[in-house]
Amino acid sequence: MHIRILVFLLITAAVGFVACKDDDNPIIPVLPSDAEIIAQNLNISLDNVPNYANPTLPNFIDQNILAQDNAPSINPVTDKGAQLGRVLFYDKNLSRNGTTACASCHQQAKGFSDDAVKSLGFEGALTGQHSMRLANANFYTGERMFWNKRARDLEEQVTMPIKDMGEMGFDAAHGGIDSLLRKMRKLEYYPVLFEQAFGNEEITESKMQQALAQFIRSMISSGSKFDQGFAQVFTPGAPGAGVQNPFPNFSAQENAGKNLFLQPPPQGGAGCAGCHTPPTFALAANSLSNGLNAGETVIFKSPSLKNIGIGGPYMHDGRFATLEQIVEHYNSNIQNAPSLDNRLRTPNGQPLRLNLNTDQKAALVAFLKTLDDPTLSADPKFATPFK
Ligand code: HEC
Ligand code: HEC
Repeated sequence: MHIRILVFLLITAAVGFVACKDDDNPIIPVLPSDAEIIAQNLNISLDNVPNYANPTLPNFIDQNILAQDNAPSINPVTDKGAQLGRVLFYDKNLSRNGTTACASCHQQAKGFSDDAVKSLGFEGALTGQHSMRLANANFYTGERMFWNKRARDLEEQVTMPIKDMGEMGFDAAHGGIDSLLRKMRKLEYYPVLFEQAFGNEEITESKMQQALAQFIRSMISSGSKFDQGFAQVFTPGAPGAGVQNPFPNFSAQENAGKNLFLQPPPQGGAGCAGCHTPPTFALAANSLSNGLNAGETVIFKSPSLKNIGIGGPYMHDGRFATLEQIVEHYNSNIQNAPSLDNRLRTPNGQPLRLNLNTDQKAALVAFLKTLDDPTLSADPKFATPFK
């Protein structure tokens, strides 16, 4: 009996040994490694992930400014999460017919916006409003997203275009997000990237939301002429941290435009900074609308003004083609409306008239152009990862 068991065990071990040898046999196909799967599809690396979480920032983006970041504590930016977000952002597979990615309407070279008044979405549909620039979206303390603030926060917003029948086409009538998740599970790079970012390869809408939101929050703008100038005069503790001091790298006209932007109308300025807050130029959370339409009741927001010069046309409906038209709107054409902000009214409630002269208007335009950020609009870590 004992011997029979012993013989049985010996045979089993021998068979197992042979089986192991067979596993190593090169004739049996070897599955590609994670690194090979990534290399076949994408220009990114699993080992060498760009720094999204802790980029080097100028001195004036200090603790006071970083405290304005709207990232929830459960979704801080991580390098691997943002890298997955980058792949999602540029992946046309996220649209039902494989033609449209987030980046189709949010183009890096155009300040992550689109130069069309309305963007081309799913099967020829046009978006209802103009595409929004994405720089410094993390610094909007009001948190709500879209021109009319209909999304609660960035996490909720980022998968809404996917589920929109006019944008990326996975609306409820076409299987919704579940249909997309099934499609993504068959794309071999996603299990690898979800595993890397979140510790397991399961693909869910909530993980997509986290990764896309991380990627967008990492688009911090700090490479404009304005940023270079402010870094030189930054004075912690001084009013406005020294932003009203003349910038050494600015022309006299740009410095004059900066004064107009910063000073409120009673002090001879145009009062823009009351809502478009430097140094991030994100909109103040308590801003109401800016008087585009008489009788308007909707409260609109604006994206940060960083990259405004390359990111037109302007306003939610793309009605203005030039910065000059914007300045003229604030100068002479504010319309009275229930949603008009008090900062754009006279003390007796009438729409404000700035009565700027030609030089002042040109100075404001020159200043707005100093907000363009050629670093962000060319940084490879925000470019397409696809081959
Ligand atoms: C077909 C064009 C199109 C596509 C595709 C698209 N967007 Fe947009 N995006 C827009 C438009 C237009 C708006 C403004 C819409 C509105 O307010 O009604 C917008 C607004 C946004 C905003 C709000 C910004 C803010 O400051 O409030 C974010 C964030 C955003 N998009 C991210 C994305 C992401 C992420 C994707 C991909 C999943 C995406 N978009 C796909 C056109 C597009
Ligand atoms: C009461 C707050 C407020 C003030 C003051 C204000 N704005 Fe605005 N601004 C807004 C809002 C809100 C929007 C978005 C309006 C829309 O599209 O419906 C906006 C839009 C803009 C845009 C277009 C943004 C884009 O992405 O298309 C520019 C540029 C701009 N403002 C510049 C200025 C300048 C220059 C001044 C000073 C002369 C100024 N703003 C004063 C609230 C304000």
